[in-house]
Amino acid sequence: MNGQRARWTSRSSFIIASIGAAIGLGNVWRFPYICYENGGGAFLIPYFVALFTAGIPLMILEYGLGRKMQAGAPTAFAKVRKGTEWVGWLALMVVMLIFLYYPVIMAWCVDYITYAFNLGWGTDTAGFFERDFLQLSGGPGMLGGIRWPIVIGLAVVWFAVYLCLFKGLKALSKIVFYTVIIPWIILVIMVIRGLTLPGAIEGLKFYLTPNFSVLGDPRVWLAAYGQIFFSLSLAMGTMIVYSSYLPRKSDIANNAFIVSLANCGTSFFAGFAVFSILGYLAQAMGVSVPEVTQSGLGLAFITYPTAIRLLPLVPAFFGILFFLLLLTLGIDSAFSQIEPFVAGFTDKWKLNKKWVLPIVCICGFLIGIVFTTRGGYYWLDIVDYFANTFGLTLVGLLECIVIGYVYKASKMREYVNEVSEFRIGIWWDICIKIVTPVILGISFILSVVTLIKEGYGGYPTWATIVGVVIAIGIVILSFVLMSIRGKTVTTGVSKGD
Ligand code: PHE
Repeated sequence: MNGQRARWTSRSSFIIASIGAAIGLGNVWRFPYICYENGGGAFLIPYFVALFTAGIPLMILEYGLGRKMQAGAPTAFAKVRKGTEWVGWLALMVVMLIFLYYPVIMAWCVDYITYAFNLGWGTDTAGFFERDFLQLSGGPGMLGGIRWPIVIGLAVVWFAVYLCLFKGLKALSKIVFYTVIIPWIILVIMVIRGLTLPGAIEGLKFYLTPNFSVLGDPRVWLAAYGQIFFSLSLAMGTMIVYSSYLPRKSDIANNAFIVSLANCGTSFFAGFAVFSILGYLAQAMGVSVPEVTQSGLGLAFITYPTAIRLLPLVPAFFGILFFLLLLTLGIDSAFSQIEPFVAGFTDKWKLNKKWVLPIVCICGFLIGIVFTTRGGYYWLDIVDYFANTFGLTLVGLLECIVIGYVYKASKMREYVNEVSEFRIGIWWDICIKIVTPVILGISFILSVVTLIKEGYGGYPTWATIVGVVIAIGIVILSFVLMSIRGKTVTTGVSKGD
């Protein structure tokens, strides 16, 4: 790692890798449901407003920062101003929380692929998921025993992540083509299958019929911004480190548009696969679409398996395909969570990636075992909530403040315009200095108020307190990591920048 910085082998590798990072499990289970819940087709309005006022501007910011500073998040921020390095570490701490549980969900997919061969989830899919597979304990206070099938799945996932990363960027530049194209092919097959089923249109109606009255509700807007952030993998150091591997004079603005639009287009498209099948399921069961519609994990592991079992032709094939879809969607997101974390350490202390990577993978696997226990599901839910609701919002807010005001938005814009295929205008400064931070600030405050008033998810108060302690803990840890002296902070910006 010392000396020359690793590089993508081509621009398209970089774009595809970024798209792979952005497109993940969230596109399939999160977007369609959030869309349906927040006004159906009308949700596309706040969604695209969020994309253009926060998603793309922040993507440009992260690309610009990584490209200019030629370093992962902490060192990049340190180069902006010494005291802001912790913002970069905080991003890595948030992504760390995510990469502790994200592979666990992928581990479930590994297990479900094996069950799909004989549709082992049976008719009571909810019972199978909760009682037989997760063997849920009574609550977060009871971890119960470890679920070995999940641990094995987890080991498989971590090993795969390690294999993808250990050979470095040259190999990764090739791997990402497969990890992006394979899920896309599967998605197309699933959409075709879905749309040709009876009842599909009913499902799509629920997905897309606009309900404009919800647009006055601020929560709908916050949902749109939250979804954009998670989905584009912003505020986690991923895009910063990916762009730091770009060769000199690479475009920034156009790449940011391409990646963001490809991701959002995929989310929209995935909605067709999900809701057409839900429409079919509702018809087959003789109920209405909302009755079969579930959010998040329930959609993927309960509703979808139910629908798959009812498919007229080769259901096992589609079962395998669906979980393979999730797995291949997730794998490039998973390694895009590890890469910035590893780079944070190797950039600051000039450590050898050969050692840091396996250590991170092994520790990630070992700590992840907590989530494979019988009470692990609850903790996965709690950590997910804190990381996404507070972590991402806070890091995004801080990024805007540091680049908008400390570094100066106009300076970053000039830099981006120097290298990009088209120029971004003053609108970008306005988004970074005002629009995005204001929305993130409001969203953060509202989330804190809701947490204080209601706690989270009906869990006992102490569990919420543990979440808060983790959140405060990672902020402290970010300052600690900043205060440990690094090997180099000022060198590394390539000449001519
Ligand atoms: N954007 C990914 C998804 O939609 C998740 C992700 C989070 C990827 C963090 C990278 C970093 O599933």
